[in-house]
Amino acid sequence: MKVLLFGQTGQVGREVKDALLASYELITLNRLDVNFEKKTEIERVIELHKPDLIVNAAAYTAVDKAEHEKKKVFQINSVAVEAIAKMAKKMDVWFIHYSSDYVFDGKNKNAYLESDAPAPKSIYGQSKLDGEKAIIESGCKYVIFRTSWIYNDIGSNFVKTILKLAREKKSIEVVDDQWGSPTSAPSIAKITALCIAQIKEDKFKSGIYHLSNRGETSWHLFAKFILNEAEKLGYQSLLKAEKIKPIKTKDYLYDAERPLNSRLNCAKLESQLRIELPSWKIEAQKIILKLIQK
Ligand SMILES: NC(=O)c1ccc[n+]([C@@H]2O[C@H](COP(=O)([O-])OP(=O)(O)OC[C@H]3O[C@@H](n4cnc5c(N)ncnc54)[C@H](OP(=O)(O)O)[C@@H]3O)[C@@H](O)[C@H]2O)c1
Repeated sequence: MKVLLFGQTGQVGREVKDALLASYELITLNRLDVNFEKKTEIERVIELHKPDLIVNAAAYTAVDKAEHEKKKVFQINSVAVEAIAKMAKKMDVWFIHYSSDYVFDGKNKNAYLESDAPAPKSIYGQSKLDGEKAIIESGCKYVIFRTSWIYNDIGSNFVKTILKLAREKKSIEVVDDQWGSPTSAPSIAKITALCIAQIKEDKFKSGIYHLSNRGETSWHLFAKFILNEAEKLGYQSLLKAEKIKPIKTKDYLYDAERPLNSRLNCAKLESQLRIELPSWKIEAQKIILKLIQK
């Protein structure tokens, strides 16, 4: 099976590449090979490589900056995605794509189901939703994994930010009223590989699937967890966990509005794959260890 992967330099892309390398003929393309701001380039490379399956881990992911770069954001997260989906339909191949908890407004009391109505509050969220719609409308065979709060030992993410701030500051403020599930990029890649294995056996059902690590937390509690784990591993920091002060979202100056409830109900995916998703704490411990060893 020939798999074409876009976004191999990203947090998720790098892990997907590692997870698929041994089992598939893998073609990995980065921004220099294909710029998502030019959709004709996407069509050209798909025609050229004739993959059996496409995985798109490329995206515009700077949520706040997105508010000021609307055209570029929609080009990468919606127009380019539509181009891939149309090619997937034309060539009758599967398309695996990643979307976001930020397609929701966060007003639900419970964790979000795939069937809950999206209502994005930010340009980024809207662009991801438009990408989803374009995939569905194309009529291709697709998997959209809506995921949340991704981190890895590379890229820019919350875990790396907290570890960095811990070395520089004696106290910080972190929002305590946004709830969600931190999700490690390696766990997303493992699930992607399981999904492809089922696709190969004709057992996977096309659709949207929520994919987060198990359990939930707030950014504030997550920050404390990161620092406590790091300290257990001997990380030298100026900051003590009790000096991570809770702050409300309304008092924090974000450019983009964020949902207060980012929790995703992942039962559909667990049932499809017959697995239990890993706990966020265990996944986070692995990445914190990796970062500290670096
Ligand atoms: N990060 C999160 O917390 C989060 C949460 C929920 C959902 N998601 C979704 O999960 C997916 C993976 O996210 P991630 O955190 O792994 O993203 P990431 O680390 O920011 O990586 C983004 C990837 O997209 C590529 N890219 C950006 N602009 C491009 C362009 N114009 N042309 C071609 N490639 C371009 C980047 O290439 P360069 O290395 O060259 O920049 C990089 O490989 C995305 O769909 C994202 O929307 C992310």
